[in-house]
Amino acid sequence: ATFYMLRRVVRQSKFRHVFGQAVRNDQCYDDIRVSRVTWDSSFCAVNPKFVAIIIDASGGGAFLVLPLQKTGRIDKVYPTVCGHTGPVLDIDWCPHNDHVIASGSEDCTVMVWQIPENGLENPLSEPVVVLEGHSKRVGIVSWHPTARNVLLSAGCDNQIVIWNVATGEAMINLEDMHPDVIFSVSWSRNGSLLCTACKDKKVRVIDPRKKKIVAEKDKAHEGARPMRAIFLADGNIFTTGFSRMSERQLALWKTENMDEPICVQEMDSSNGVLLPFYDPDTSVVYLCGKGDSSIRYFEITDEAPFVHYLNTFSTKEPQRGMGYMPKRGLDVNKCEIARFYKLHERKCEPIIMTVPRKSDLFQDDLYPDTAGPDPALEAEEWFAGKNGGPILIALKDGYVSTKTRDLKVVKTNVLETKPATKAEHISTVLREFKSLRDRVILQDRRIARLEEQVAKVAM
Ligand SMILES: *[C@@H]1O[C@H](CO)[C@@H](O)[C@H](O)[C@H]1NC(C)=O
Repeated sequence: ATFYMLRRVVRQSKFRHVFGQAVRNDQCYDDIRVSRVTWDSSFCAVNPKFVAIIIDASGGGAFLVLPLQKTGRIDKVYPTVCGHTGPVLDIDWCPHNDHVIASGSEDCTVMVWQIPENGLENPLSEPVVVLEGHSKRVGIVSWHPTARNVLLSAGCDNQIVIWNVATGEAMINLEDMHPDVIFSVSWSRNGSLLCTACKDKKVRVIDPRKKKIVAEKDKAHEGARPMRAIFLADGNIFTTGFSRMSERQLALWKTENMDEPICVQEMDSSNGVLLPFYDPDTSVVYLCGKGDSSIRYFEITDEAPFVHYLNTFSTKEPQRGMGYMPKRGLDVNKCEIARFYKLHERKCEPIIMTVPRKSDLFQDDLYPDTAGPDPALEAEEWFAGKNGGPILIALKDGYVSTKTRDLKVVKTNVLETKPATKAEHISTVLREFKSLRDRVILQDRRIARLEEQVAKVAM
C-alpha cells in the first residue's frame, strides 16, 4: 500500500504544477450586467478575436461582443447584439469563422450573426439568418467541430435540430429521443456522433444522421440535479453529476460498454452544476462549478485511476459563468495552457493557466498540433455521410488570424442548384419533403400552443 501511495504521489505529469492567475484589474472587462436568467449555460463564449457575454437586457435578449483588447470600463451605451425578443440562453462562436456567432433564446429561435471586422459600432439587430423550428426556448447551440456551416440546437421542446446554416434549412430533427429537458449536447472529435445528458438521468450516444441511439446509460449519476456529458478525443465520455446523497461526482465511460463506468469520483457537496471544459490536445479537463469560486483540473490518462486530480485555482468571488479560449488563441510564448473568462456579477475577469518553465523557447511538448480554423468538410458532405477529423495547425510561431470571409446564406431551392442524378434527385426531394413536413408539424404545435395561450387570456 505504501508503495502504491508513493507511486501515486510521484506520478509524472507536466501539468502537475500548472497554476492559475487572474489578470490585473485594468485588464478585466468592467461594468457589465451579466445575465441573471436561470439557465445553466456558460453565458460567455470566446475566440482569438472577441469575447461575447450574455447580459441582462430589458424587453428582449442581448449579448455583448467585445474585441479582446477592449478591456476596462464598458460604457452603458456600448452597442449589443440585440435581435432576440426574449432572453438569450446560449451563444457559440463558429469554429471556422471568428466573426460568426450563433445564439439560442427564450424566443424559440436560433440566430446567426456576422460581427464586423473590428467589433460593433452600432447595435446589431439583423441576424444573417433566423433558424425557426423549435416550439420552446432554445437552451443549447453548438457548431459542428469540423463541417462548415453545420449548427446544432437543443430546445426545451426536448428536440435536437441540426441546421445547414448556409441554406437556413433544418436538415435533421431528433425528436422522440429525449423525454425531458436536455442538459448538454457534445459533438465527438470528428462530429460523427453526439452525446447528451438529459433530465431523465440518461446519457445517450447518438448517431444523428442515422437518427439512432447507439449507446445509453440510465442513471449515469443517480442524483436529480443536472448532469453534463462531453466526448473525449479517444471516444470515451466524461460526465459530471450528483450522487443520490447530492455529492458532486465525475465519471468516465466507454461508449462500447456503458454498464459500468471506467471510474467514478466523488468531489464535494456543493450544489452548483459542474461545467466541464476540455482540452483534447493535453487531455486536461477543467471543472468550473456555477456559483463556485474555483476551477479544478484533472488529467485523464489510460492508467488507474484514469482521472487524476491536478490542482484547484481558487478566488474569493463566485463565478456566474465562464468562457474558454480555444487553444489557437493562447500565448505560447508564456507557456499559457488554458485561458478562462470568469463572469462576476458586473465584470469579466480573464484567468490564465500557465505551465512553469524556465526556458523562453517554444515548448513543443506542451503544444501538439491543434485544431485550426479550416473546416475538413462542407455541410453537404457531412449531411451526405462523410466524416473528417479536425485539420490541425502548428502553434510554433503563434496563431495569426486571417481575415475571414462573410457568411453567405442563400435560401434557395436546393433542387435548382445543380443537375443531379436521378437517385440524388429523389433523395433530395425526400429530404426536402421531410424537412417541410417537420416544419409543418412544428408550426402546428406552435399554433396550438398560441391558441391555448389566447384561450387562457380570453378567459
Ligand atoms: C470518426 O469518429 C468515429 C468514432 O468517433 C470513428 O469510428 C471514425 O472512423 C472517424 N472517422 C473519420 C473519417 O475520422
